[in-house]
Amino acid sequence: MRTPEALQHRLNGFPRVRLGHFPTPLEKMERLGAHLSEELGKALPALWVKRDDCTGVATGGNKARQLEYSFGAAKAAGADTAVITGAVQSNYMRTAAAFAAKLGMECHVQLENRVEGMGEEYHKSGNVLLDRIFGARMHHFPLGEDEKAADTNLSRIAARLKGEGKNPYLFTLSPETKPTGALGYMQCAIEVLEQASAEGVSFDAVVVPTGSAATHVGTLLGLRLAGYDGPVHGICVRRDAESQTERVRSIVRLAEEMLASGSVIEDDEVICRDDWLGPGYGKMVESTHEAIDLAGRLEALIVDPTYTAKSFAGLIGLTRAGAFDGMGNVLYIHTGGLPGLFAYRSVIHPD
Ligand SMILES: Cc1ncc(COP(=O)(O)O)c(C=O)c1O
Repeated sequence: MRTPEALQHRLNGFPRVRLGHFPTPLEKMERLGAHLSEELGKALPALWVKRDDCTGVATGGNKARQLEYSFGAAKAAGADTAVITGAVQSNYMRTAAAFAAKLGMECHVQLENRVEGMGEEYHKSGNVLLDRIFGARMHHFPLGEDEKAADTNLSRIAARLKGEGKNPYLFTLSPETKPTGALGYMQCAIEVLEQASAEGVSFDAVVVPTGSAATHVGTLLGLRLAGYDGPVHGICVRRDAESQTERVRSIVRLAEEMLASGSVIEDDEVICRDDWLGPGYGKMVESTHEAIDLAGRLEALIVDPTYTAKSFAGLIGLTRAGAFDGMGNVLYIHTGGLPGLFAYRSVIHPD
C-alpha cells in the first residue's frame, strides 16, 4: 500500500532523535511567480516553497532532518563520538556538531579542501565559526574531490579514537554506505503531502538540490511510497548530471533495501540537471547571483552560493524553459545553507 500512513509506519521502525522543529512551513512564492509570469508573458503554475531552511537546529536546513535518523542510529549503536567529513563550509558538519553538543557527544569534523582559491572568510567564517562554537574538534584534509580518500582518512581518525577508549560513529555519505539520512526526507515527503492536502492543492512537480543525494533519494522514494507520482527534479550542486544520476540510482537501490520496499523507482524516474552547476561545487555563476538576488528581493528568502542558490536557479531556469507549463502547483524544497552565505561575502558583494 502506498499511502502516507503506510510510509510513516515503515519509518517508525528506525531509531530517531527528535531535535528539529517540524513541520516546517509551506508557503506560496507569489511575487516570484508574478515576476516570472510578467517576464515570460504567460500564466504560470503557483510556485510553493517548503521552508526546510527553518528546521530549527543551529540555523536550520536539510541536514537536521537527515541527522535525526543518523544520530538515532549512532545512539542505538551506543556511540559517544560523532566523526564526520565534508567540505570546509559543510552544513552537514555544522548541524552534526550542533546535534552532538545537544546530545552530549564528542564531535570530530574533517574539513575537505573542495573549493580552491578561497580566502580567509571562507576558511574561518560561516559554518566553520559555528563548528568551533559547538565545540567540534577540527581535522584538515587537503584533497577536494576524492570521496573515497576522505572516508579512508576518516576511518583512521575513528580508529585512533577507538584506541583512546571512545566509541565513534562514522557519518559518511558515500554511495556505498546505508543512506540512513534519506529517511529524514521520506518524513518530509509525508509532511509535504499532508500540508498540500490541508491547503487543498496537489503538486505537479517538485524541485530539490542533489549532492550527497540523501535529500533527492529520500524525497523521491518517500513521495512514491506515500502515493505521489509526479516528477522530482534534482538540481546538481556537486557533480555533472551523468555521474549524479548514476549516484542517485545506486543510492535509491540501497534505500529500497533498507526499507525492504522492493523495487519502487524505475531508472528513468531519476532526473538530474546540471545546467546551473557552473564550473563546479561551490563556484558561483551568473544564475547563482541572480537566484540570491531574486529570492531575497521578491520573497525575503536567503539562499546560499553552494547549494540553495543553485537549486533556486534550477527552479527559475526550469520555469523559463517551460518545464512546468500547464501545471497547477510546483514545489521547491528550500534546504537552508544560511551560514555558508557569509563565507562568500566578498564574492557576492565585493564593494
Ligand atoms: C544547504 C544544503 N542544501 C542541499 C544540500 C544537498 O543535499 P544532499 O547532500 O542531501 O544531496 C546540502 C548538502 O550539504 C546542503 O548543505
